[in-house]
Amino acid sequence: MNKKINFPIILLSGLFLLSPTYADHKKSHVDVEVGNLSSTASKGQLVFNTNCASCHGINAAGGIGGPPLIHNIYNPGHHANASFIRAVRNGVKQHHWQFGDMPPQKHVAFGDMVFLMKFIREVQQQNGIKAMDHQM
Ligand code: HEC
Repeated sequence: MNKKINFPIILLSGLFLLSPTYADHKKSHVDVEVGNLSSTASKGQLVFNTNCASCHGINAAGGIGGPPLIHNIYNPGHHANASFIRAVRNGVKQHHWQFGDMPPQKHVAFGDMVFLMKFIREVQQQNGIKAMDHQM
């Protein structure tokens, strides 16, 4: 092979290897494992997959219209349950991601949000996401 083209090829493959590391914080899809859920969380899973998965993906793994919520950014120390309830009631202006704004989801009842939060927190825990101080 011609020595002259070898170098750029090596450089390019190096960039390929590096890019996932850089993109990690903003990865818009994650692999989510769902283990055994409490009965409250199972109800929440249904609420989530009915009302939120069209954007946030099945089991909040990230979708075409919204970010993964089983993600370090949304750990309980950085996004408390109140911020989920606020997001659903008022919507969210685009700030962390490039998906645009989240419209309010007023059709989701407060009681269903209690189930939904249980689901999010149980699955976050099953996927190694722990409460961290607000520093991100
Ligand atoms: C039409 C698409 C869409 C639907 C439906 C949707 N979301 Fe979102 N959601 C988004 C987008 C986009 C963002 C990211 C905004 C950003 O940070 O840039 C977001 C962000 C969020 C956040 C983060 C809020 C914050 O303070 O940063 C939470 C929590 C959330 N959504 C929960 C939900 C829940 C729960 C449901 C279902 C009841 C839901 N979303 C339905 C699009 C959607």
